[in-house]
Amino acid sequence: MTQQSSQQLIEGQRQDWNRVAGGWEKWDRFFDEQMAFLNHRLVADARLRFGMRLLDLGSGTGYPALLGAQTVGSSGSVIGLDLAEQMLAVARRKATTLGLANVTFRTGDVTALPFDANSFDAVTSRFCLMFLPEIPKATAEIARVLRPGNWVAAAVWSAPEKNPSIGLSMEAIKSVIELPTPDPTAPGIFRLAKPGDLAGMLQQTGLVDVTDQEFLAEWSYVSADEYYTSLMEIAAPIQNLMTTLSAPQIQEVRRLITQSATQYQRGNRITFPLAIRMVAARKPL
Ligand SMILES: C[S@@+](CC[C@H](N)C(=O)[O-])C[C@H]1O[C@@H](n2cnc3c(N)ncnc32)[C@H](O)[C@@H]1O
Repeated sequence: MTQQSSQQLIEGQRQDWNRVAGGWEKWDRFFDEQMAFLNHRLVADARLRFGMRLLDLGSGTGYPALLGAQTVGSSGSVIGLDLAEQMLAVARRKATTLGLANVTFRTGDVTALPFDANSFDAVTSRFCLMFLPEIPKATAEIARVLRPGNWVAAAVWSAPEKNPSIGLSMEAIKSVIELPTPDPTAPGIFRLAKPGDLAGMLQQTGLVDVTDQEFLAEWSYVSADEYYTSLMEIAAPIQNLMTTLSAPQIQEVRRLITQSATQYQRGNRITFPLAIRMVAARKPL
């Protein structure tokens, strides 16, 4: 992949996530309620303790940077890095509301970290690394900035068939327009779904004690309509596909998505299974 095309992909990511930042702020409470367990898991896998200096990559609206800031306390600090200034503006507002003075949010690219070697006690990342055009560059950067003996913990999506809340929208879109067969090496939601992919890249940088676990969970919505609306307002890659559709195609996709979602009705909620790949590794002493 040429330098130019990587830069174009990164610029596309910046624009995409800036565009959906309002949706993330609107749905923040829902995602916090449904996905807080992942922040706790990442903070635990990164072995985060009071007084540490944490780097959170692709922080977006502050996950898991804000929990990290609460964990490291007043003598620690957190930097949340993200391409999208609008996502970070939401994160900053949340930090202020929570009274957290030890977290700063900076714009930057995960594949070129503006930090010295051995300058962080822990690195976390939730749902970001699969969007990078050159993931091994990011894993090399993570290994560089981590202090020896310390941990990185990352969460990425596992396979689409185990994540119907994302997979079924893709299926619905595919039923109205022909989508090119996805290039398994191209950046995208499921780019790091395969067991061992991200773990292998971390291992290649010299990190050790690598773990790679598929973590099963659930999340639930009050209705199929709530699910559809939130998906369209926050999922930048799906929004991109929807912009290529005509109005009648959008109506049809909406019908298909909400109809398929009702398979997951349990009691008075729509409850989807989730499968998330949790990968952690340590820099040798
Ligand atoms: C799905 S959001 C996840 C945000 C947050 N970590 C969470 O879990 O809620 C993905 C984030 O990764 C960021 N991102 C994508 N590529 C990036 C890059 N090369 N460098 C920094 N951030 C990037 C996007 O701007 C976006 O905010």
